[in-house]
Parts: sequence; structure tokens; C-alpha cells
Amino acid sequence: MSDDRLIVALDLGHALAGLDLARRLGDAVGFYKIGLGMLTGGGLALARELKDDFGKRIFLDMKLFDIPATVHEAVRGLAAFDIDFLTVHGDPHVVRAAVEGAAGRTKILAVTVLTSLDRADLDAALIRPGDLAAITVERAARAFDAGADGVIASPHEAAAIRALPGAAGRLIVTPGVRPAGAAAGDQKRIATPAAAIAAGADHIVVGRPVWQAPDPLAAAQAILGEMATG
Ligand code: C5P
Repeated sequence: MSDDRLIVALDLGHALAGLDLARRLGDAVGFYKIGLGMLTGGGLALARELKDDFGKRIFLDMKLFDIPATVHEAVRGLAAFDIDFLTVHGDPHVVRAAVEGAAGRTKILAVTVLTSLDRADLDAALIRPGDLAAITVERAARAFDAGADGVIASPHEAAAIRALPGAAGRLIVTPGVRPAGAAAGDQKRIATPAAAIAAGADHIVVGRPVWQAPDPLAAAQAILGEMATG
């Protein structure tokens, strides 16, 4: 049986490429993330196929953000696809609308602060001064208050989020995970699979270190091995 703590991000642009990768990974990986990059490349059809024909779990990473009525409708429609996890931005009004729209059919994960951002990026976006980790943990707390089933955060903030009173029974999902020696790419707040799990992550999301590897199955197996030591 696969260790579903590992979620592989299928950021491949087209459903056929995603399907090919999932076939190569076989039983080693049981949980896939489909994101905005595949929206126009058949992402929803791929989600259906991976779920219905391959028995995989699906995390749809849409990072929705809009007025509550629109978020509610978007989530209601997506929840009908029998998706396991769906992301929205962690602003409380967005989270509340999404949780209502999902009506328990899909777990709503709130994005705290993107793992590709650092303090300079927050300054550019006019986000209030202060420590990035503290802002991330505060956004997580507010998302939990608004009813989120879990949050997306960097492994660096996972332990502090896990310690929040509102975190009991909620999920922490961490992208920005890099096996020892792997290229960071555009991720700025990274950690190894073992460190992310040790910090309290329920799931880690890994993309490029798997799908860009010459041997994706070997790369996934190495990550699973590293995770097991966490
Ligand atoms: O290739 P890499 O391992 O960096 O992929 C990480 C994935 O996690 C990407 O699909 C990215 O969109 C997603 N993600 C992220 N940071 C967040 C939320 C999602 O990197 N805060």
C-alpha cells in the first residue's frame, strides 16, 4: 500500500503527461495534486480518471479567491468531482464560503503564505510589516477559526501551526519540500521530507524533484524512504 503522506504535484501542463507519470509511479504513489497549470490541459478530466480508474486520491490546487458567493459556487461545482482536498486562499471570508460550498464532500485547505514568497515579496504586496512566520501562523489560526479542514504552509511554520489550539484534528500540508541535495527552484522556505514530517506535516507535496527526475519512480521511492525516517 502507498504511503499517502506523499502527494506528488503533477505540474506537467497536460493531462496525458500527468497520466503517463502516474503510470510510471504505479503503486508507489497514491495521492496526486493537480493545479492551475493543468487547468487548460485537461486537469479535471485527469482528476476523474486518476480517481475512478486508478483509485488515487486527488488534491485539486485551485487556490480560489473571490467574493463569497462566487467561491461558494465554484467549490460546490468542484466538490461534485469527488475531490479529496481543494485549496482556497486563507482569508476567513473565502474559507467560510468554501467550507459551506463543499458541504463536507471535499476537505478545504487554506493557503497561508505561498512557500515561494519571502519578506521582500510581502512588502511588494503591501502585506503588513512583521515576521513572515508569525503572519503565516496567524493566518492559519484564522483559517481554522473560519472552519478550514487544514492549511498549506511551509515546513518552517508547521511546528508552530501544529501547536495552535485550533489545530487539533486539522491537516497541515507542506509544499516547499526538497530531498537532500535537490535544487530549490523558486521555493524559498524549504525543508527535507523527514524534517517536514517531524515538524508536524500530515502530507508533503513534492513536484519537480519527482517529475523532473530522470527516474521519477526512484526519486519518489527515495522521498518515501526519507519520509519514513521523519
Ligand atoms: O515543484 P515543487 O515541489 O516546488 O512543487 C510544489 C507545488 O506545490 C506546486 O504545484 C505549487 O503550486 C504548490 N504550492 C506551493 N506553495 C504553496 C501552495 C502550493 O508551492 N503555498
